[in-house]
Amino acid sequence: MSLDWVSVADAEREGMEKLEPGPLGYFAGGAGDEITLGENVAAWGRWRLRPRVLNGVQEVSTATEVLGGTVSMPVLVAPVAYQRMAHPEAEAGMARGAAEAGTVICLSTLANTRPSEVAAAAPGGRRWFQLYSFKDPGVTRALVAEAVDSGFEAIVVTVDAPPGGNRERDRRNGFTMPIELGTPGLTAAVGEQALSIEEVFALMNHALTWADLADLASECSVPVFVKGLLTAEDAELALDHGAAGVVVSNHGGRQLDRVLATADALPEIVDAVDGRAAVLVDGGIRRGIDVATALALGADAVLVGRPVLWGLACGGREGVSRVLGLLREELELALALLGCASPAELSRAHVRRAPAATP
Ligand SMILES: Cc1cc2nc3c(=O)[nH]c(=O)nc-3n(C[C@H](O)[C@H](O)[C@H](O)COP(=O)(O)O)c2cc1C
Repeated sequence: MSLDWVSVADAEREGMEKLEPGPLGYFAGGAGDEITLGENVAAWGRWRLRPRVLNGVQEVSTATEVLGGTVSMPVLVAPVAYQRMAHPEAEAGMARGAAEAGTVICLSTLANTRPSEVAAAAPGGRRWFQLYSFKDPGVTRALVAEAVDSGFEAIVVTVDAPPGGNRERDRRNGFTMPIELGTPGLTAAVGEQALSIEEVFALMNHALTWADLADLASECSVPVFVKGLLTAEDAELALDHGAAGVVVSNHGGRQLDRVLATADALPEIVDAVDGRAAVLVDGGIRRGIDVATALALGADAVLVGRPVLWGLACGGREGVSRVLGLLREELELALALLGCASPAELSRAHVRRAPAATP
């Protein structure tokens, strides 16, 4: 384990080398031809920055507030299933790394570690819980109850799955999640022995409605975010049905191929929400300048999935915290060079579309 990375790309390279072909295809892959997977990264790069000079900015802080609490930077850890395939420390290591870096971890419903154990592993850290809805409302309620009892501050309902996308790398590798790794939070909620991923997906509610979201939001004692929106129309509906915020996301290009890259979907959603709720975004964030671009376009914060997964694969907690540290340092430098003392000072005046390439 070297961890002497200069950028997230270094962690990605090392992380990819560490993993067996099956888990590697699962973590790195996207849906179909992986157009959206690639576009997510490329679309941030289609924006150019407009720095302001002579602002007399001496001290820069990347710290900001999300859901009324401070984070060291507006970069949160996205929910990623089955982290024990990356490293034995699994979600506990991810939570410790996030806590060390001063930010929030969002734990997946499909985690290999129970919410209560994640809380115990990083008691000082902040945590949110990603929720898949189940056909049996009792299962959904039990999942939410354990999370809330374990100090998870928000429920993030993922609405762009199920069903799972067409992951051709997994199909080619004949890969399926090893049942022995288990999803203990979920099995406790279902009240059965370990379930295969196919059994889990069969139990999920594939026909969730806005009315269901409104019920969930009114029953929940913590704020509910909706993750997996790509349109202004759905952002409006989410707010109308009780969401405290939205996460602009296409599941890291893993669900419907050729949907918009999140950087391209973000502006219309920011405009529709118009400051009434939090707007988060994920997908393809690999650099501090990607974070700065997202914030300039109006996001309150971003989440990263694969970057921290590579960190976890290489070095458990330490790798996660190192990747987050790299992003924080890059964001701090970007803010200084843009003439901003804090993330709140970024605005649309700091970005414009890249000029069209000359033929
Ligand atoms: C291997 C993997 C597993 C994921 N599992 C989940 C999940 O269980 N629930 C969920 O809402 N999103 C899941 N996601 C999507 C992430 O939360 C996030 O939207 C995406 O990774 C962001 O893109 P990025 O990886 O380019 O940062 C997963 C993503 C990956 C790469």
